[in-house]
Amino acid sequence: MLEHLDQLQSSGLAELSAVASPDALEAWRLAYLAGSGKLKAAMGGFKDVPKDQKPAVGARMNQVKAALEAAFEEKKAAIAAGASAHAERLDVTEPGLVTSQGLGKPHIITRVIDELAEVFGRMGFEVAEGPELEDDEHNFIKLNIPAGHPARDPIDNFYVDDPRKTERPRMIRSQTSTVQIRVMEAAVKAGGGKLTKPIKIVSPGRVYRPDTVDATHSFMFHQIEGLYLDRGVSMIDLKTTLLQFARAYFGDDAEIRLRPSFFPFTEPSAELDMKIRLREDQPARWIELGGCGMVDPAVLQLCGIDPEEWTGFAFGFGIERIAMGRYGIPDIRLLFENDLRFLNQV
Ligand code: DAH
Repeated sequence: MLEHLDQLQSSGLAELSAVASPDALEAWRLAYLAGSGKLKAAMGGFKDVPKDQKPAVGARMNQVKAALEAAFEEKKAAIAAGASAHAERLDVTEPGLVTSQGLGKPHIITRVIDELAEVFGRMGFEVAEGPELEDDEHNFIKLNIPAGHPARDPIDNFYVDDPRKTERPRMIRSQTSTVQIRVMEAAVKAGGGKLTKPIKIVSPGRVYRPDTVDATHSFMFHQIEGLYLDRGVSMIDLKTTLLQFARAYFGDDAEIRLRPSFFPFTEPSAELDMKIRLREDQPARWIELGGCGMVDPAVLQLCGIDPEEWTGFAFGFGIERIAMGRYGIPDIRLLFENDLRFLNQV
């Protein structure tokens, strides 16, 4: 009988340890602890145990019963805890919720700048950068805009130093043409005092003018400047480059025109217009993208470059205008308000 009880305990505990669900636990309870279970059946044999063995067998019987009951309670608690832990567990394979604010992306102006750098890069232009905090030497003097020129009026520029009291007043640049000067100065310096090789750069960046904000103006906007200096560069190269750019960026049917104009740093000078449809409900119109021309020999001289040996063209275009034309954006203010409803569309 003692042996039978030992066996009952060990088989009961072994089977219980394999139990992992509430249903299996209930089946085990019915098999061992319930009125019809094995423990009760074993107890039923107690009456046949010889009298002298009854105390030992009785004690053992109580032990086995206590052991099985305790193990059952323990298992029951473990299964309940496991169930609640399971309910809280994260399913990492579930697809996430995608909200409109899920992923950021570069601003449309940043993307257009990258695209322009790529298109001009295919034509051999490298990207050059210059500072936004400038001085009048780079923003005016070396661009052939001398003292007293109306373009230097404090009404039209953001001076940092008072131009009436400071000899070389600092300002935040009004045009990216400053970078032309810096690139030419650096090239002459690198050549030990003279230009030794061609220059072919574009320079995108911010410029600042105290303009009143409206649909096509802002006090801060972006320009992309271009400068190509080499031996024998002519107006034909300029026009070819601009047409190639327009077709590469706006499509094969892009239409451009050059209108004679004036800039102190180019001679001859022209304005570049492009036929652009800004609104679906309006016909395409000629929109001015910016200025261009052959670099004025005076500018080359001011930078220490021999205009007899080197000629070149330059251009400076408004990036917002390009972006508006390329992506059909009717109002420049949309580009700076940072309204997500707009930014998510472009
Ligand atoms: N800097 C001029 C402006 O902001 C644009 C410009 C015109 C740039 C002619 C040039 C150029 O490089 O050759 O209005």
